[in-house]
Amino acid sequence: MMSIRESIVVFTLLLSLSVFLIVANSSMDPYKALNIILNPDGTLTRVKIPPQNPPSSDPNLPVLSKDIPINRSKHTWSRIFLPHTQLHHKLPLIVFYHGGGFILYSASSTYFHDFCINLANSTKSIIVSVEYRLAPEHRLPAAYDDSVEALQWIKDSKDSWLTNHADYSRTYLMGESAGGNIAYNVALRAAAEIDQIKPLKIKGLILIQPFFGGKKRTGSELRLAEDGTLPLPVTDLMWNLSLPVGADRDHEYSNEAVNGERCKVLGQGWRVGVFGCDGDPLVDRQIQLLNLLKANHVNVTGQFYPGGRHGIFIGDPSMSAQVFHFLNNLLS
Ligand SMILES: *[C@@H]1O[C@H](CO)[C@@H](O)[C@H](O)[C@H]1NC(C)=O
Ligand SMILES: *[C@@H]1O[C@H](CO)[C@@H](O)[C@H](O)[C@H]1NC(C)=O
Ligand SMILES: *[C@@H]1O[C@H](CO)[C@@H](O)[C@H](O)[C@H]1NC(C)=O
Ligand SMILES: *[C@@H]1O[C@H](CO)[C@@H](O)[C@H](O)[C@H]1NC(C)=O
Repeated sequence: MMSIRESIVVFTLLLSLSVFLIVANSSMDPYKALNIILNPDGTLTRVKIPPQNPPSSDPNLPVLSKDIPINRSKHTWSRIFLPHTQLHHKLPLIVFYHGGGFILYSASSTYFHDFCINLANSTKSIIVSVEYRLAPEHRLPAAYDDSVEALQWIKDSKDSWLTNHADYSRTYLMGESAGGNIAYNVALRAAAEIDQIKPLKIKGLILIQPFFGGKKRTGSELRLAEDGTLPLPVTDLMWNLSLPVGADRDHEYSNEAVNGERCKVLGQGWRVGVFGCDGDPLVDRQIQLLNLLKANHVNVTGQFYPGGRHGIFIGDPSMSAQVFHFLNNLLS
C-alpha cells in the first residue's frame, strides 16, 4: 500500500506529465508542420511544394504519360498513364484521385505520379489521375464537382489513348487519403446518376486510407493524437480549411455516418475495397466506413494491416503491391 504522502507524489507527477503532454500537443503548430501560411484574403501560401514530375513520352519506359486539360476555366486537367507495351486488348480504366488533405499536392506530384506508373504497369490498366481544385481557395464540394466533371470529360473525350485502349465497361474509381474521400463522394453521385456517365460503367471503388472525420474523436484519433505523420491538429486544420465555411466535422462531406445510408446506391453490383492500417490515426473511421457499407449491403472487402502509418500504401512499394494484388483479383 502506498502512504498518503507517496500517493500525493505519484498524483503530482501524473498531473504534471499530463499538463506537459497537453502543452506539448497544443504547441504543435499545424501550419508549420504543413509548411503553409493562411493569408488575410483566405488564400494559402504553400511554402514548400512537394516535388513534381512532368509527364513522360519516353518509349523505353513501360508506361507513357501525358496531361490533357479538363476545364480550362477552372485549371483542371488529367494526367493519363498508358502501359504501352501491354495493348493486346482493351484495358480497364482506373480514375485516380490524389491525397493531400484537400489542400496540398497535385496529379503531377512525384509521389503520386510514381504510384500511378506502378499501378498502370502492375495492373495493366489505363490510369486517369485527376487534377481537381484545392481548398481553401476552393472549398468542398469543388473537388467533388471537378472529379465528377472528370468522368463526364472522359466519356466525351476524343483522345486516342482513351478511345482506342480503354474498356469503358470496366471503370474503377480509386483514391488515397483525401482522394479516397473524393472517390467515395464521386461514387455516390455517379451510382445515383449512371445514365449521365454512359458508356462508362463503374464496377468498383478502391479507398486507400480514406480521410474522414467527425466531432467526436475515435479511439485511434485519441491514441495517435500526436502521430508523427498525421497528428490531430493537422487533420483538424485540413477540415477547417476545406469544409464549407461555417460547417463543422459532422458535415456529411467529412463524417461518413451522416446520411450514411446514401451508400446503399453502391449495392447495385459495385465491388468496394477499403485499405487501412493500425498505425493510422484515421483507422477507426475507416473501419466505421467498412461497417457502414456492410450494413447497407454493399459488397465490400476490408484490407487492414498491423502497424504502418498514414500514406504507407503510396510510399512503401511492398504495401502498394498489396493494393495491386487486390486489384488484379478484382480485374481478372
Ligand atoms: C467549366 O467550368 C465552368 C465553371 O464551372 C462551367 O460553367 C463550364 O460549363 C465548364 N465547361 C465544361 C466544358 O464543362
Ligand atoms: C512492369 O511490370 C512487369 C510485370 O508485369 C515487371 O516485370 C516490370 O519490372 C515492371 N516494370 C517496372 C518499371 O516497374
Ligand atoms: C478550426 O476551427 C475552429 C472553429 O473556427 C477553431 O476553434 C479551431 O481552433 C480551428 N482549428 C485549427 C487547427 O485551426
Ligand atoms: C462480391 O462479389 C464477388 C465477385 O463478383 C462475388 O464472388 C461475391 O460472392 C460477392 N459477395 C457478396 C457478399 O455479394
